[in-house]
Amino acid sequence: MASMAAWLIGIIIVVCQVSTPSAQGGGGGNPMSIVIAFSVVGSVVGLLILVVIGIFSYKFAKKVVREWRNTSTPPTDLESAPEEILEKDAPEMDKFLREIADEYPIRFTAQQLNVFTNNYATRLGSGGFGDVYKGQFPNGLKIAVKILKRNSDKKAENQFMAEIGTIGRTRHRNLLRMYGFCYDEFMSALVLEYMENGSLDRFLYGKTRNEIDWEKLQEIATGTARGIAYLHEECHRRIIHYDIKPANILLDVDFSPKIGDFGLSNLCNRDNTHVSLTEYRGTPGYSAPELLRFNFPVTFKCDVYSFGMVLFEMIGRRKNAEVSPSGSIDWFPIQIWERFDKGELVNMSGECNVEEDGERKMAIERMCMVALWCVQDTPEDRPPMSAVVKMLEGSAEIMPPPKPFQYMYPISTDTSAVTAVTVAMDSEQMSSGSSSSPIWYKGSVPILRT
Ligand SMILES: Nc1ncnc2c1ncn2[C@@H]1O[C@H](COP(=O)(O)OP(=O)(O)OP(=O)(O)O)[C@@H](O)[C@H]1O
Ligand SMILES: [Mg+2]
Repeated sequence: MASMAAWLIGIIIVVCQVSTPSAQGGGGGNPMSIVIAFSVVGSVVGLLILVVIGIFSYKFAKKVVREWRNTSTPPTDLESAPEEILEKDAPEMDKFLREIADEYPIRFTAQQLNVFTNNYATRLGSGGFGDVYKGQFPNGLKIAVKILKRNSDKKAENQFMAEIGTIGRTRHRNLLRMYGFCYDEFMSALVLEYMENGSLDRFLYGKTRNEIDWEKLQEIATGTARGIAYLHEECHRRIIHYDIKPANILLDVDFSPKIGDFGLSNLCNRDNTHVSLTEYRGTPGYSAPELLRFNFPVTFKCDVYSFGMVLFEMIGRRKNAEVSPSGSIDWFPIQIWERFDKGELVNMSGECNVEEDGERKMAIERMCMVALWCVQDTPEDRPPMSAVVKMLEGSAEIMPPPKPFQYMYPISTDTSAVTAVTVAMDSEQMSSGSSSSPIWYKGSVPILRT
């Protein structure tokens, strides 16, 4: 526009120079000069009008396209459109895409998250820590953005960064990847790998409960166990999850499982819709009984208990606790124990909704026995996750588990429980956790006790 103005001024000066001598001459002026002057001014004005029309049409078209794009999403409150921000931030984007390749958690700004999520247009779900939204990086990689709730005792920035560093460096194919985070005066958020098939709970209860076949469910169980084993036994800073449950087992496009939300219990406090006691961590129905006991030491074995509860739900493709038509509580884990106790686990195919087949029957029985070991009342009696993986893989002969859930019957007169414990103790290498030999299966490979 500035150059055009200069050009116009130049033309006017030329025109003035052409017309000045005639004016000074006091005559009517050279008709030839006047014609030239008028045609020059006329063409300049015409050109200007064309340029102005062009600019207005471009702006109008851009506005129409932007409005059309926003019809299915809430309007953005950013001053500039996402494309403009992305263009402006191009060097910054290149930097963070390089950092992703370097596998380093990246710090994003709140404005960038706004752009990635298209102003938080698609909510994937919400939980005790906050809401989760779908988004994508400029290179098209899909992401999930978890906005963490802030409360009065919000963590200091350096503490937050320390936890983020731990989560970001904890990598395993069965753990959900964290690409980066956002931390500023107003918000803290995590930028996570997006999982196409959402969480396992969707496929255990409700209409979609039979969409995953039994073989795939077995793979999901073993993959999940491997992820927890890595958290407990292999990663540089061992992590207790505290909230193993189907909603935290996410499934990628091939239904391979990845555990989400590990390390979060150290990062922030949950709201009180999930918990009733200030120091209580986890979700009722999955959390180990010792978490409710005052001053009881909490170990990695609380995750083993929760995993056992998840296994029961995978076996039955149902919630462990349901209210029966008569109004009483129908509790699936105890039914599994009763069947095991009567030697009837092989007839579980109906509950599991799988076709009768010798190998499947054995696989179901194996999963039930592993689950019963995982939910033992005494944490030391529960196997470490590496042993759980081994048992689920079928590479070890599983010993009969003792009766669990005794804490539900404080004054027990049930002698079968005692017998079951005795049987387990009499079997090979039974020592209830005090020696380095496994008590859960017959085998010679030493495993790490936690
Ligand atoms: N990375 C992800 N990819 C796709 N969907 C996700 C992702 N993370 C979470 N979700 C979806 O969002 C829902 C809510 O997740 P969120 O972790 O906030 O709550 P939750 O797991 O139900 O409870 P909790 O707060 O105890 O973890 C999940 O159930 C899942 O369906
Ligand atoms: Mg979760």
